[in-house]
Amino acid sequence: MSASDTPIRAVVFDAYGTLFDVHSLVGVADELCPGRGDTLSQVWRQKQLQYSWLRAMSGRYKPFHEVTRDALRFAAAQLALPLAPSIEDRLMEQYAHLATFSDCLPALRELDAAGLGLAILSNGNRDMLEASVRSAGMTGLFDHLLSSESVGTFKTIERIYALAPAAFGCAAREILFVSSNGWDAIAAHWNGFTSFWVNRTGAPLEQLDTVPDHVGTTLSDVVAAARAARR
Ligand code: LAC
Repeated sequence: MSASDTPIRAVVFDAYGTLFDVHSLVGVADELCPGRGDTLSQVWRQKQLQYSWLRAMSGRYKPFHEVTRDALRFAAAQLALPLAPSIEDRLMEQYAHLATFSDCLPALRELDAAGLGLAILSNGNRDMLEASVRSAGMTGLFDHLLSSESVGTFKTIERIYALAPAAFGCAAREILFVSSNGWDAIAAHWNGFTSFWVNRTGAPLEQLDTVPDHVGTTLSDVVAAARAARR
């Protein structure tokens, strides 16, 4: 049976970029660093991901909140922006209150009503995920918040993806893994999930010799795919 024919029992979401908009802090960043908010946010996110990959590869885990702070310091230095402790704290505080995309809550409610298991599987440490879920009004919607913290590594190490089938007690291919980060959707596919890439930004496909099982642009497309493949 191919992944696309396999009934889906649960839907597992990446957090940052998929449910929570990491660039929703541009307004605050721009207020603090006039005219540079957008660039700061882009460099910050890229550096955060690079540090997560480097630390995962090298077995040098530390909580994602700290990795995020390190990335912010680097991004500010690269852009030659002064980063007073009060500004740094304010930007870090924003990470706990990132806006959610408008398609998220309706989609999560529909998937929940359809009887599918729901989880987040993220590099975020537990406190970060709990704060973001609370702030986005998603409390009670997820069966599991699966965090890098419990395995001490980051995506794309297999151990982190293995948290989801273990939590739901089913095969990875019975889980629809949803990410707006193309590389994450592909790594989920490598780890046996039925993968869904939500291409929110019209990004090109990552050249990693793998195509996700599904590609869409919003979480409404995820609901349609999950309903069609429901057990
Ligand atoms: C996460 C990052 C990769 O939530 O967006 O795991």
